Amino acid sequence: MGTKASNQMWGGRFASGPDAIMEAINASIGFDRRLADQDIDGSLAHVAMLAAQGIVSPADAEAISDGLGRVRAEIAEERFEFKPALEDIHMNIEARLSEIIGDAAGRLHTGRSRNDQVATDFRLWVRDQCDAAVAGLTALMRALLDQAEAGADWVMPGFTHLQTAQPVTWGHHMLAYVEMFARDRARFADARARMNECPLGAAALAGTSFPIDREATAHALGFDRPMANSLDAVSDRDFALEFLAAASICAMHLSRMSEELVIWSSAQFRFVTLSDRFSTGSSIMPQKKNPDAAELIRAKIGRILGAQVALLVVMKGLPLAYSKDMQEDKEQVFDAADSLMLALAAMTGMAQDMTANAPALEEAAGAGFSTATDLADWLVRVLGMPFREAHHVTGAIVAKAEAAGCDLPELPLEAMQAVHPGITAQIFDVLGVRNSVASRQSYGGTAPDQVRAQVAAWKERLE
Ligand code: ARG
Repeated sequence: MGTKASNQMWGGRFASGPDAIMEAINASIGFDRRLADQDIDGSLAHVAMLAAQGIVSPADAEAISDGLGRVRAEIAEERFEFKPALEDIHMNIEARLSEIIGDAAGRLHTGRSRNDQVATDFRLWVRDQCDAAVAGLTALMRALLDQAEAGADWVMPGFTHLQTAQPVTWGHHMLAYVEMFARDRARFADARARMNECPLGAAALAGTSFPIDREATAHALGFDRPMANSLDAVSDRDFALEFLAAASICAMHLSRMSEELVIWSSAQFRFVTLSDRFSTGSSIMPQKKNPDAAELIRAKIGRILGAQVALLVVMKGLPLAYSKDMQEDKEQVFDAADSLMLALAAMTGMAQDMTANAPALEEAAGAGFSTATDLADWLVRVLGMPFREAHHVTGAIVAKAEAAGCDLPELPLEAMQAVHPGITAQIFDVLGVRNSVASRQSYGGTAPDQVRAQVAAWKERLE
């Protein structure tokens, strides 16, 4: 067969078209078609500016805008034929535009390059994902706040080293995640604010000799301002890296929460029951109800952090300004964003549906001498004992309870007095798990009153 014709977009100096392998490694249309809407938005802003500046005629600008509208409809209705020979979304759209409106299409690319075009498209896309992450996190926080409100005074074991430490409240535990997800939300909002500058008009790398108005295109696309340096504008991918960094931290939080749900829903713990809607069965063991959603969310950090590392490595060592390496910036960001949004939605569903087993929580809360610290604090407060001595006395009492096979509140007063004669019956006021949590009134502490106050404050902030 004869040689393929050269590329219609840039093939002027080429005698032949690319090898099939060249075409395969070069084409990004397989994935960057996801930027179609952003690409058309960018082109509409650009052509309106070109007309306002007298760079293209009003008639050509109108033909281009109408044509872009038709291309958008074809893509939305899946009537558009994406062609690998046209490399990427930018050239696919422009080529179709010229089929629809003819020669005027060739004026759209005046004062612009694919370098600033792709930087703009991708920024718009990542900016939308920041907004989606904020919305997803807000929904998750609401679900957790409802859990916290319902169980503000349900007592459960608090763990360190996954060993029973001190009793806490269910509401307090839920609020710990609210705090984490609130920081994640703030990270996405910060990243969004920083990325909200427009690369369009940087052209290939040096700016353009056409009298363009970068403020106009920036504002038309919802950016705060144009980026100040054209070299930076086409070579920067910090915005995607910041998104991925925020996503990785958020995925880490989701993973921790998932791990707890996996543990808590086991027959050994029975702290929570996950709804049928967010569990699965086993094909062989009929009794099983598996926390698959939690396990999958627990795993998503792998691909999200992987995307972050991959893009950092792609960008590392790249000279200014644009290099084709940067075409490798998109696929994993798309995947990371999809994974994060799905994980957030699944976690929100699980959090809304799950039922805490309050009696099991309370029973477990008392196990493992979880009120030993309360006993020691009482010796300090009431008998004026130095804490180190109180720690020692309490240890001896715990050993007695262990030998007697009972928990601290069940140990007879005489047994405690044998360790220290100053102990009175008053001690029993602090030994129960309910007394314990109610006494933790310090700001940020686990007392039900504190939990209710925090829930109310968060609900007001989320209004
Ligand atoms: N598909 C390219 C990318 O994703 C668009 C920019 C191409 N620029 C160029 N100078 N070849 O990066």
